[in-house]
Amino acid sequence: MAKLGLFLFIVALSNQTSLACNDDKDEQLPGTWRELNDYWLRALSFPSFLLEPAISYQGRSSLNRANSNTKPFKNYFIKKNADGKASGRFAFGGLKASLINTGLFNNRFTPANTFRPLQGLGKQSPVVLNPNFDNLLTTFDGCTAPNGESGICAPGNICSLFGGRPSGSCILGKVCCINVVPSCGGTATLNNTYWQSPAILSAPSTCTLTVKLDATFVEQKKPICQLRLDFVSFTTSQPTAGTCTDTFQVSGSTNIAPIICGDNDGQHMYLDVPSSLNGPTNVRLMFNFAAGSGNSPRTWNIKIAMLPCGANYLAPRDCLQYYTSATGIIKSFNWRDIAEVATRQLNSQNYNICFRTEEMDKQIASRMCLMPCTITNGGDAFSITSVPGNLANSAVGTTGPNPIPPPVATVAVCLYDFLLIAQGTDPITGLVADRFCGNQLNPIPNGAAVSVTVCTRIQPFKLTYQTDNTEGAVFANNQGIIIPAFGDAGNVGFCLDFQQRIN
Ligand SMILES: *[C@@H]1O[C@H](CO)[C@@H](O)[C@H](O)[C@H]1NC(C)=O
Repeated sequence: MAKLGLFLFIVALSNQTSLACNDDKDEQLPGTWRELNDYWLRALSFPSFLLEPAISYQGRSSLNRANSNTKPFKNYFIKKNADGKASGRFAFGGLKASLINTGLFNNRFTPANTFRPLQGLGKQSPVVLNPNFDNLLTTFDGCTAPNGESGICAPGNICSLFGGRPSGSCILGKVCCINVVPSCGGTATLNNTYWQSPAILSAPSTCTLTVKLDATFVEQKKPICQLRLDFVSFTTSQPTAGTCTDTFQVSGSTNIAPIICGDNDGQHMYLDVPSSLNGPTNVRLMFNFAAGSGNSPRTWNIKIAMLPCGANYLAPRDCLQYYTSATGIIKSFNWRDIAEVATRQLNSQNYNICFRTEEMDKQIASRMCLMPCTITNGGDAFSITSVPGNLANSAVGTTGPNPIPPPVATVAVCLYDFLLIAQGTDPITGLVADRFCGNQLNPIPNGAAVSVTVCTRIQPFKLTYQTDNTEGAVFANNQGIIIPAFGDAGNVGFCLDFQQRIN
């Protein structure tokens, strides 16, 4: 099963080309896929034809690349469509009337920010359009408000018609319009919409947001291939023995986002979607709140960015998380620096954390190193299901040709719950492992009560985090195919500093 999963994962990687291609293409790093593929080839004994072609995909920022924003007005002189009209759903000369008549934006907004054409019309000044500047597609450029929020550039009156909040200004007299959906059951079609928890939430209940992607929407100027969710804030009730009772889940994406809950401020997710050029897609974000934990705070503010196909900042395919800096911190979902005995590690996680290879001092990073992050509040930077008799120590497993050999001989170690660092090496001892679990990060075979720095030279830099659906014991079945695992409560996942290095 694990083998099949990895096989699918590699096949998915080889489809990467469909996201590539782009006019401001970054430099490529030839051979990087070859290295990763070679690693898995050796580790899993796959026939090589499954791993071809070795595609290099990985863009990275070049320190001396020309700033692509040197023509700020470029977008404002977009060519018209062949028929001379900007794609049709705005009629010109009477924008307000045409909005009303076509119902352009109706049904795409929640009650709270639905455009209500008959409400307060008299109070609003007319929307003035310059006929010499008739391409409304330019209305929806992304912008950043002074306080760091993202929005879209729109004329002030359009912003208020949407129920948006102006914050800062764009060129040509437009405002940076922050679009907020503070309710359940709504839809989002505007880039950089913030979905916020409603003031009152009962439990049990469900709260959804549907993100509609459709290249025929005038507010989506470019075909969309990916969404990035930024959990500006995110709190639900804690899991029970690692299983979320309050859940957040995603449907409609082609990569699988794990079900998460708990504390996830500052986390993000990339969701692959079929190009909206090929037809509309709905991506549904859904919270389910369980009965019985009625007093738990449930609040969120999730920014939804729609990323155009071909952009050089798309995450590589199948990377739920993607980091584009040389150093930083990665955390498993619901990890928090807090002293506690309950299990914070979430069950049924299975996703990749990817890193763009960065350039430092005009040299390309050749390895990435990981170490437990600094704890100031009594938390635990690394605790992934342990092994009996070894509760405080590190543990490792190896992804070999036959990771689950029958018959059952031993108790599973890092077989069901682990962080995978391909060829993870302690630079001081030279010891190597790839599946890490236990209570310290250390590739030493029999475990140690200290963590060490673990580095990998396998590119593209990528980690896989996997947990099974229980923190309880796993029992061998009759055929002896399942290796028993010992139950282990109180795990919290990981918080690691990463650092790319040039040697
Ligand atoms: C959405 O906004 C982000 C960030 O502001 C930007 O990078 C992206 O290109 C925008 N998407 C579209 C389709 O314009």
